[in-house]
Amino acid sequence: MVNDGILWLEECASTNDEAAARLADPGVRAVAARHQTAGRGRAGRSWHSPTGTGLYLSWIGRPDFSQSLGGLVPLMAAVSVADVCNGLGVSVQLKWPNDVLVNGRKLAGILCEARGTPHAWTVVVGVGLNLHCPPNGFPPEVPGCALSEFTDQALDAETIARSLVRTFSRNLTDMGRSGADIVDAWMQRGIPLGTPIRRGEIEGVFAGLTNEGALRLRTDDGIHEVHAGDVDLLDKVEG
Ligand code: BTN
Repeated sequence: MVNDGILWLEECASTNDEAAARLADPGVRAVAARHQTAGRGRAGRSWHSPTGTGLYLSWIGRPDFSQSLGGLVPLMAAVSVADVCNGLGVSVQLKWPNDVLVNGRKLAGILCEARGTPHAWTVVVGVGLNLHCPPNGFPPEVPGCALSEFTDQALDAETIARSLVRTFSRNLTDMGRSGADIVDAWMQRGIPLGTPIRRGEIEGVFAGLTNEGALRLRTDDGIHEVHAGDVDLLDKVEG
């Protein structure tokens, strides 16, 4: 059933794949599922997607700007999810590039997948947002948390999905006008400058983002720019 441009499925393998299969359908702005059997995370990880506890949504973005700004889309997505969570009364922090955390625990993950040519491209922005804690807990490899731990507001998946789609659309359009604003918006919602972080074997502190959205890691040797992958927090950050 398509509601406000969102195709709702009872179950699918991955909403990112379902959205990618519908890029040519102008009536579908996003695909959401009650349950995913093979939800995908970043860096080849899987995303635990049980029924009734999470929102699994993939929005189809059709940027009207060149893919040279593509590195900023994951940051835009994180800013958008943060703003929707803030609107629900839950204050979050972003960890580069697009993990959404509360007190160092993961509330939402985002997987962006682009297709096409540099001047005619689409991006599928997949969001897994924890609404409630799963009865059997979160997978041990990722300390998770859920919106219901932090707010008494009603957590209706369809309302939140509509809000995400509206926010993504608005922020993608704004990004085409001024990409640099997204870096500022991310920094306002991100972990503080100076937070101890690690990239592989390299430990240092968070020293901000470049205009292209890369992470700056300061060590005793100087600044390292990180363009892809993840970083880990060395300390728990208070949200
Ligand atoms: C991560 O933090 O590793 C990213 C997780 C992204 C999960 C979402 S759930 C909806 C969409 N469909 C998928 O298969 N993955 C994304």
